[in-house]
Amino acid sequence: MKRPLIAPSLLAADFGRLADEIADLEAIGADWLHCDVMDGVFVPNISFGLPVVEAIRRYARLPLDVHLMIQRPEAYLEPFAQAGADIITFHWEATSHPDRLVQEIHRLGKRAGIAINPATPVELLADILAVVDIVCVMSVNPGFGGQRLIPYVAKKVQRLAVLRAQVGSSALIEVDGGITPETAPLVKGADIIVAGHSLLRASDRKAVVGALRASFESLA
Ligand code: DX5
Ligand code: ZN
Repeated sequence: MKRPLIAPSLLAADFGRLADEIADLEAIGADWLHCDVMDGVFVPNISFGLPVVEAIRRYARLPLDVHLMIQRPEAYLEPFAQAGADIITFHWEATSHPDRLVQEIHRLGKRAGIAINPATPVELLADILAVVDIVCVMSVNPGFGGQRLIPYVAKKVQRLAVLRAQVGSSALIEVDGGITPETAPLVKGADIIVAGHSLLRASDRKAVVGALRASFESLA
């Protein structure tokens, strides 16, 4: 089983020391930096927006994986592209026109991701899998870090991997929320693991990155 990419969620970082936090995550071998943008409307919490993503871009070398948990994502694709996002992920539930948004993100020269809430079935993505680069399967209800993984999401990740093969898509599967070295085996088959609290709040972050990477290895 292929090792997953690790995308630490900066939502769990010490925002007063963000440049140091970025340098530390890059030094311990993170693959992408996951930036959780929340508007207090699509989700019941407000996190950070464009100026913070711009600041992260100034200090980071790794790809920025920007997860937009916002209403009207179409209005903010270009600003986040200009702020330095490499991957722009919007929520399926926040738009009636996901194909149009994927096209727009590609026009901006970025990789396009679609995130789905826990209760949204992966089967809805059967057609758009042909053009989307990343599917982010939420394993918690979006809005807060540090929540527990919702167990039924494990089956969704498996079904999405089967669907992807059936339609011949090369989209990457990302899983976001409540991932720890203990819960990661539940979502085997994912290509990208987002980890907030379990990684950034750990006393030995490097050990957690290693444990997450290794978490699929003992599984058939
Ligand atoms: C949840 C966010 C997640 C979150 C993950 O709304 O999209 O990316 O920061 O954090 P943990 O790993 O703490 O659940
Ligand atoms: Zn996220």
